Amino acid sequence: MVHKIAVINGDGIGPEVMREGIKVLRAVAEVTPGLKFDFTEFPYGAEHYLKTKELVPEEGLKKLSKMDAIYLGALGDPRVPTGLLEQGVLLKLRFYFEQYINLRPIKLYPGVPCPLKGKGPEHINFHVVRENTEDFYVAVGGRAKEKSKAQHEVTRSIYRAKFGLDIDVDHDEIAYQIGVVSRKGSERVIRYAFELAKRKGKNRVTSVDKANVLTHIYTLWREVFEKVAKEYPGIETEFAFVDAITMWFIKNPEWYQVVVTPNMFGDIITDLGAMLQGGLGMAPGGNINPEGVSMFEPIHGSAPKHAGKNVANPIATILAGQMMLEHLGEQKAADVVEQAVIEVLREGKTRTYDLGGKSSTSEVGDAVATKVKEG
Ligand code: IPM
Ligand code: MN
Repeated sequence: MVHKIAVINGDGIGPEVMREGIKVLRAVAEVTPGLKFDFTEFPYGAEHYLKTKELVPEEGLKKLSKMDAIYLGALGDPRVPTGLLEQGVLLKLRFYFEQYINLRPIKLYPGVPCPLKGKGPEHINFHVVRENTEDFYVAVGGRAKEKSKAQHEVTRSIYRAKFGLDIDVDHDEIAYQIGVVSRKGSERVIRYAFELAKRKGKNRVTSVDKANVLTHIYTLWREVFEKVAKEYPGIETEFAFVDAITMWFIKNPEWYQVVVTPNMFGDIITDLGAMLQGGLGMAPGGNINPEGVSMFEPIHGSAPKHAGKNVANPIATILAGQMMLEHLGEQKAADVVEQAVIEVLREGKTRTYDLGGKSSTSEVGDAVATKVKEG
């Protein structure tokens, strides 16, 4: 089967790690009868923006919507104001294609150094299912200055809510940002988490929130979680506050199987998760719309200081490719890629600096591609 894959290399180390990801995909296509890729490059990122002042044009979105999946490197460049490319390209695509699941496996492979004392691959193997289109990522908010009506209204409501006082305090300037959780938005991601647990033979789903403080949005989240959980009587459930779960990830990572979380907390705890699995260079992610166009990426950023040096670890990108294969229904090819990564890591001869080695980005890609071809 031919899969039409959009390739967005992006910025910084993006093009270097993507070269290796694509190398491995081409290798697995060579050894898998009937598997073919049709790659189309899209130029979005810093260079394109600086040349054209364009982030992702309407036309580009239309073309992308005809693809089977998007394979993305990284976004962010010091020449462009912080957040512009991240929001204008990465978040834009996540929102436009309604990729409401951000699936992030936290899996420590044999031979990969883990910073936790006494923990190994048998202790670190779970999935974080991060909601990917709501919460504090909806960009509703504003700023207001002294004497503006908006400023007075907001300040007043803060005091009313906090202290029950109807007073008007003159702050000089305020900024506010609103988190939004919808019943439908929570339900679809929570149900995905339970289905994932079922599919992977896991028997516990943990829900993350901060319902003790952010009562409006996360009480709704909890209600939905409890309702959906009833449909899966064979699966154990629990709630964890986000602050507490950072502690438990370190102390007892083996407890976790599937963790479902609102967007922002998911962003934070998956960087922690990445460290458990050997660093950002090891952490892939999928932005999934089960009914639409999904996008697969390494979760690290563009790492500008390493760009162009051929030193970045391409394994997160290769594993993002493996997730894409699984998503496209190519389970066998996905397993071949994962097995090749496992063997390269276990042998330990070819590894980048972050794993204590001296190999280059392309040497690691070559080693994995060779293993893939050997079967
Ligand atoms: C991630 C990143 C993004 C996010 C940024 C770059 C917008 O940190 O994918 O985790 O916050 O989701
Ligand atoms: Mn992040």
